[in-house]
Amino acid sequence: MTESNLKKTWLALSAEAIEVDILTQFILPALLPSWNFEGNEFCIEYPTGKGGDKVDIAVRKNTSTDNFAQSKSNPFLIIELKKRMLDISTGSKDYQKAVVQLKRYLDTSATNCKTVRWAILTNGNYIQLFRRHGRVVYPYTENILLTPDNIDEKIALIKKYIDQPEKCLSVALYNNKGGVGKTTTTINLAGILSLPAPYGFNKKVLVVDFDPNQKDLSDLLDFKAPPLKLSEFFLDYKNYKIEDVISSYRLKASNNHEYGFDIIPADEEFLRIGNRINSITIGTLRNCLSSLRKVYDYILIDSPPGSGFFNQEAIAASDVVLMPSKHNGIASFKNAALAIRSIFPTIGEKRRSHNSELGNPFPLPIFFNGEQISSAGKQQAQKAIFQIIKQVKTEEKIDITPFFFPKYTNAQKNLEIFELPSYAHIASASFSHRPAVFNNKKAREYYSDLVREYFI
Ligand SMILES: Nc1ncnc2c1ncn2[C@@H]1O[C@H](COP(=O)(O)OP(=O)(O)OP(=O)(O)O)[C@@H](O)[C@H]1O
Ligand SMILES: [Mg+2]
Repeated sequence: MTESNLKKTWLALSAEAIEVDILTQFILPALLPSWNFEGNEFCIEYPTGKGGDKVDIAVRKNTSTDNFAQSKSNPFLIIELKKRMLDISTGSKDYQKAVVQLKRYLDTSATNCKTVRWAILTNGNYIQLFRRHGRVVYPYTENILLTPDNIDEKIALIKKYIDQPEKCLSVALYNNKGGVGKTTTTINLAGILSLPAPYGFNKKVLVVDFDPNQKDLSDLLDFKAPPLKLSEFFLDYKNYKIEDVISSYRLKASNNHEYGFDIIPADEEFLRIGNRINSITIGTLRNCLSSLRKVYDYILIDSPPGSGFFNQEAIAASDVVLMPSKHNGIASFKNAALAIRSIFPTIGEKRRSHNSELGNPFPLPIFFNGEQISSAGKQQAQKAIFQIIKQVKTEEKIDITPFFFPKYTNAQKNLEIFELPSYAHIASASFSHRPAVFNNKKAREYYSDLVREYFI
């Protein structure tokens, strides 16, 4: 079999190649053409618009009226290069540093990079694809170690990912503890994201109630049952249409315009299929929802407390996981740490069995929900979290600080954790069968803050 140009070029790259060698001997002559980018569809040393930061390469297809190399505007993809000898295996110091760097390039304040959807980190040995959705930046693939045997396949796979027109971010609301606000957050996030501007964010949202035991979310909303049950679809999803499992929750504004979101309600039938549940491969929900990733801006999945089948499936269906927490339970911090270092990677491994190279479900920083926290209480929580971070650093050499203290840097030791206050209207909204954000201005403010902190 003849070798591809990509493979030949890569094999010729020196083991001591530095950034400029990787750029001129591999990225420009082989990698970008294999992704169908042409000679004038890139810029070298592209200023991100934040301070003096420059990313090695920015890329975008030309349009009939605009040549990217000339206009240098609205890049689609950025590539950060490291020299080949640098260890950027996952978890290494330089990997963690490079990820922080990429996130800085994709920060909302990096004005020239606002349109970037994808980012690549590579040293010629490793290559990893990151996705950007609003404020969220997460590893879309594993950190792939290239070999002569896999390079053609892996680079083609990344092309497939960056070419697909996904608009959705799927988010699981997870905490193994009960009563921390998973359902309340799901419903109000869906509400505020879908509300038309200026009240909300005008997004198309689907919520999935994946807690068939309690079905709190479905009970809270008054909607018409869809024609097909989720469990039926689940067990035979290739023969049904996902649209038949979806119902809509809509209200009428005073100007007669409808607003609201779509819902896949809880299905108690799941509880009766017993043993058959164990034969369902983890990742099935993700596959069931895959065609909807082109349709919705957000898919929010409510899961039950615990760590059983429904949690695992909800997490496996998600790009990112949002964890409402309480400040006074050290057990809940320990669980968050366990989720980050072990539960999500294990689920990631399982879903890779039918979604090859997809990265692990990615944890967003925790937030405190529904509490009034004294400064003494806050300090106590910070101390407990620091101990957990230290322990994980010593035992596993990974730094989980960003998942607890996202604003913490060496220069600025900011220990802020986002708080969604306790508010009586949020709790009582269930009586009106409406998310609190539809009825109450203060609730809208609180959840808008949450959206701006995490998503938009
Ligand atoms: N910010 C808030 N202000 C006031 N009450 C809240 C707030 N968040 C949640 N609650 C109330 O706390 C209770 C538990 O919330 P919720 O049902 O959302 O938790 P959960 O994590 O989904 O629970 P479970 O684990 O049982 O599914 C509910 O009565 C809810 O109304
Ligand atoms: Mg719940």
